[in-house]
Amino acid sequence: MPAMPRLHVNIDHVATVRQARRAAEPDPVTAAALCELAGANGITVHLREDRRHIQDRDLRLLRETVKTLLNMESAVTEEMLAIAETVVPDQVCFVPEKRQELTTEGGLDVVAAAEALKTAVPRLQKKGIRVSLFIDPMPQALEGAAACGADYVELHTGAYANAREESAREQERQRLETAARYGHELGLRINAGHGLDYENIFPIAQLPFLEELNIGHAIVSRAVLVGLDQAVREMQDRILAAAPPEICDPNRKV
Ligand code: PXP
Repeated sequence: MPAMPRLHVNIDHVATVRQARRAAEPDPVTAAALCELAGANGITVHLREDRRHIQDRDLRLLRETVKTLLNMESAVTEEMLAIAETVVPDQVCFVPEKRQELTTEGGLDVVAAAEALKTAVPRLQKKGIRVSLFIDPMPQALEGAAACGADYVELHTGAYANAREESAREQERQRLETAARYGHELGLRINAGHGLDYENIFPIAQLPFLEELNIGHAIVSRAVLVGLDQAVREMQDRILAAAPPEICDPNRKV
């Protein structure tokens, strides 16, 4: 039976608000606990090289307190690899990182980074960390991810989310579906994220083989207005509503 994709809440922007004042609040560690109590299946943070939001202290405390699954987004650098080896999150997702960008702009160039990834991926796997690569939904990127031994790919949903016309959005959805099927054929496990919100989530939550959704900005933005508990529950409700009927049926045999 198909399973419902799990929701990982990216709490970076809770830290963005804190860092706006270099203050102690709001604390992303408290936010993570509230997300979990509201039903999040995992917590994602991006420890950026410039430390613009999440700090080293946050990552360390989250490792101690997160009860679900801790996913660390990270550039492929020696500094970040050493931190991941020390903290040992459950999962690391390698992402490209540029200092000037507002958010991660594109997927990893898996071909250009192949040499670095062939060392970095097994290095973290040896510590028991599952490794994911954030990639654009393209065959070469999927083949590169499989070649360097990644466990998961996270398909970049940004082009889908940014598409304005219905036909362009459907074309991007189709690319994601084709990539999910091809990735599965290559033996990769499939996650997705970036730019997903309460309106555009339905077709993505229905992608084949999808295991995890990483959603940050939309949930934290709604939380400012309605509270984190409600914001997480509403997103979980949307993901459930997108699931095949046998999953929504309360009488189903588990
Ligand atoms: N996945 C990855 C790899 C990301 O870098 C980000 C942004 O930090 C997200 C998912 C979440 O994107 P958004 O904040 O747009 O939901």
